[in-house]
Parts: sequence; C-alpha cells; structure tokens
Amino acid sequence: MHDGFTSAQDRAAFIAGLPKAELHLHIEGSLEPELMFELAQRNGIAIPFASVDEVRAAYAFSNLQDFLDIYYQGMAVLLTERDFYDLTAAYLSRAHADHVRHVEIFFDPQGHTERGVAFETVITGITRALDDAQAQHGISSKLILCFLRHLSEAEAEATLDEALPWLGRIDGVGLDSSEVGHPPSKFARVFARAKGLGLKIVAHAGEEGPPEYVHEALDLLKVDRIDHGNRSLEDPALVARLAAEGMTLTVCPLSNLKLCVVDDIAAHPLKTMLDAGLAATVNSDDPSYFGGYVGANYQAVADALDLSKADLVTLARNSFAGSFLGAEEKAKHLAAIDAYA
Ligand code: HPA
Ligand code: ZN
Repeated sequence: MHDGFTSAQDRAAFIAGLPKAELHLHIEGSLEPELMFELAQRNGIAIPFASVDEVRAAYAFSNLQDFLDIYYQGMAVLLTERDFYDLTAAYLSRAHADHVRHVEIFFDPQGHTERGVAFETVITGITRALDDAQAQHGISSKLILCFLRHLSEAEAEATLDEALPWLGRIDGVGLDSSEVGHPPSKFARVFARAKGLGLKIVAHAGEEGPPEYVHEALDLLKVDRIDHGNRSLEDPALVARLAAEGMTLTVCPLSNLKLCVVDDIAAHPLKTMLDAGLAATVNSDDPSYFGGYVGANYQAVADALDLSKADLVTLARNSFAGSFLGAEEKAKHLAAIDAYA
C-alpha cells in the first residue's frame, strides 16, 4: 500500500469522501439502461433491446465510433423537457453520492434538434435539474454546449445561433464526437465567434486523434481546457507546453479502457501525466456506458497505478483549479480539500 494509507480500504474511504469537481461528463452518456427503458415506454418509442441486460451486453466497444453509434441510438428516447430533467437529476444524485461539489456538464443539442426536439426543451430540462441540485445538494454547475465534429461548421454555426437566447445559462462551448478526420481547424471560425461572445472554450483532442489536433485546439480554438489529451504524451514539446501553460486535461480512465485508448488500466498514463507536471483531472465521460461514475474512476486508477494520498489530493485540487468557477469559490473548495486531507 502506497504512502499515506494503511490499507486499500483506507484509500477507498478517502477517495469516497474527497471533495471533487467533475469537468468532463456528457449528460446523454449518463443515461442508464433502466431509465432508457422507462423513457422508451413513457414516450412510446421502440428500442432494439429486449431487456436491461441486453442493453448492457451491447456496451462492448473496440473504438470511439463503436460507442458513438450506440450513444446516438440511446439518446433517441429523450423527447420531453421532463426526460431531460430526469436524466440530469439522476446524474446529479449519483454525483452527490460521490462527494462531487461542482459539475461542468456537456450537452449535445445537435443530437436532439436533428430528431425534431427543440433546443428549448433540452436546455430547460437540463437547467431545471441543475437548479434543483444546487438547492437540494449544494452542487454548483456550469453548462457546456458541444458541437458534433462529424457535422459541418455551418451546422455548428446554426446551433450557436439557436443558443443565443440562452447564453445566460451556457458557460462554454466544446467539440465532441468522431475525432479522426475532423480536426479542430474545421471549426476555427465558430469557436472564434463563441469566444467573442464571452464563452469558455474546450475541445476533445488527443483521445484518438494525433498530437497535432491538440496543437490546433490550443492555437486555433484557443481552448481553456483540453478534454482527454492522452496522445499529447507522444510529443515531448507539447507536454512541456501544456505543463508550462498549466493547461487542464480532463482525463477519463474508464472511458479510455472501454474505448481501447489504453489496453489495460494498469497502463493508463494518468500517473505519467502528473509526474510530467500536467494538470490532469479524473472524470467519468459517459458513466452509464463506461462502467462507473467519477468515484469509480478515481478508485480504478488509484488501485491500478497505486496512487498516493498526495496524488489523489493533487487530482482533486486540479479539478477545482481547472474549473470555470471564480477565484473565491475555487479557494473555498481548495481549502475544503486541504481540511479533508
Ligand atoms: N469522445 C468524443 N465524443 C464523445 C465522447 C467521447 O468520449 N462521449 C460522448 N461524445
Ligand atoms: Zn467526452
């Protein structure tokens, strides 16, 4: 057992109670099979699965696209404002159980508007649940609109137009979906417009795509954070730059395992990232599909990489420091981590 803990149970208890922020969570990826069935029934939608077990059995992926095909199919059960509320509320109660104090969640409006669901339906359902979680659990939140990178930049521009009336509730924009073949440069103009509107900027880069995509996210999109960023490690100059800039990486260990970004959790680069001075964080990405919420992600890497108490505290500190909270709120959360540790 590594420094700072007397046993594996001691470390597990420490992880469970550690105050955390989650910075990389696709709300549609928190749709549990049980809720998928409930919503399919409520909305009279046929789904190609006979049981919850059958759904779970279908969650075997060999790459990102395998997962995305199932993910877009799964979200088809989401139709009404109440559906988006129920989805978001279910995630937030799981996060609360994991001692998550702040969340910055992604949503994929194009996955809904292309099915005829109004942007307003999606955002009102999600934000009502975020407001209720603040009141009931004291969880604060930010909301990040993601553009689907397999679609065109013109479609991203149209989505940003639709978001304009809701900018009071949207804190940032991101870039997700099929990475390879859809570099950040494809979206340089729409991200420049979003930045001009005062929105924070994030992008998935270096999950399956090459280090060059991380460079583009930094240089062309002017990101505030990199989502994933694993393949940055192939480029020592890029690692040095990310470390020098204090750029937060939102790393997702169980996602990386399920999507075969790593072959084995024991080979996960999280500890290497920390040792290289990178501001890595631990997140769940699409917890219903990848087998665990944020606490389970911390636990998996702590066990596989034998993380110390100091490593775990660094990860939790990075999660608040890399958030879009104001300086005063960050300081309050960082002090709570220090008091806990
Ligand atoms: N990568 C890219 N797009 C996504 C992901 C992911 O892990 N999850 C949901 N959309
Ligand atoms: Zn993601």
